[in-house]
Amino acid sequence: MKRMKLGNSPLKVSRIALGCMRLSDDRGQAAATVRAALDQGINFFDHADIYGRGKREEVFSEIWEKVPGFRDKVILQSKCGIRFAGDPDARAPKRYDFSYEHVIHSVEGSLRRLKTDYLDVLLLHRPDALVEPEEVARAFDHLHQAGKVRFFGVSNHTAAQIQLLQTCVEQPLVANQLELNVIHTQLINDGIIFNRDDRSMASRSEGTLEFCRMHNITVQVWSPLARGAVSGKPVVNPDARIECTAVLVAQLAEEKGVSKEAIVIAWLLRHPARIQPIIGTTNPARIAAACQADDVELTHEEWYSLFIAGRGGELP
Ligand SMILES: NC(=O)c1ccc[n+]([C@@H]2O[C@H](COP(=O)([O-])OP(=O)(O)OC[C@H]3O[C@@H](n4cnc5c(N)ncnc54)[C@H](OP(=O)(O)O)[C@@H]3O)[C@@H](O)[C@H]2O)c1
Repeated sequence: MKRMKLGNSPLKVSRIALGCMRLSDDRGQAAATVRAALDQGINFFDHADIYGRGKREEVFSEIWEKVPGFRDKVILQSKCGIRFAGDPDARAPKRYDFSYEHVIHSVEGSLRRLKTDYLDVLLLHRPDALVEPEEVARAFDHLHQAGKVRFFGVSNHTAAQIQLLQTCVEQPLVANQLELNVIHTQLINDGIIFNRDDRSMASRSEGTLEFCRMHNITVQVWSPLARGAVSGKPVVNPDARIECTAVLVAQLAEEKGVSKEAIVIAWLLRHPARIQPIIGTTNPARIAAACQADDVELTHEEWYSLFIAGRGGELP
């Protein structure tokens, strides 16, 4: 598996990472998933404090703790900032919270569950409408100086939201984790249709992809396999757009002698933003299938054919 630098950090991360949101509670199955990823050369694991309400971090730590020296070989990322309804009391709604206290409390919890002294990367999970950049900066400074977090980033943030944080945060923001896949193309499509008359297609992405490229912020992608919708998972009432994309994915896979998953991931890797897909499959065979993408190079024409199918129509 090829490696790349994560944003402006010196971290050398596998081009494809494993997302741990769906890791099994069954230790044997979870271990098989993590081992399959390691066998493919994946060295980057994505967590969040909320995945399985902390259980995913716990089960992960049980597996890797058994392998001596393993901690130094892998790069661990977790996220904070989403709070469940009912926390701390019954009237509290689900919400986002970037307060100093919550960020510190969340990271302490992740470190305890992951049984490690430090996170390589901490992401702010979803933008907090009440964010105070000074407070985030104070929390990041504390965590960095205490050696608890090496690098920082964000998730689901627009360019403007990143810039707001950067007015106070001194550490470089190394990653922005966003949803993007061959049938969820808004980030790319918005840049193409922003000045069209059709208001239903009005741009919402604010040039975020371009901003990340300009500032060397790695775009990590969640749900990169489109949850299997165009690579073999039966879809209830699929629309023509999904059906057409699935047909094209299958055709390209056959032509190139690779898996369908490899085509779906190669579509992301072909983009010049140097995207890092965070695959969420727990199935060892599917992890191997997706990682074949490391050796697949789509042509300009193949990339556009998939884009046109996935966006659901010809370009203007
Ligand atoms: N930052 C955020 O807001 C955010 C949000 C969501 C997720 N994430 C991160 O992104 C990671 C990936 O997200 P994701 O899991 O939604 O991504 P994904 O890789 O697109 O989807 C994985 C899911 O699709 C299923 N799947 C894939 N191909 C299939 C096929 N051919 N047939 C049947 N099932 C198939 C997998 O099942 P099997 O396990 O059976 O293969 C698994 O349940 C997560 O683990 C998490 O780390 C971040």
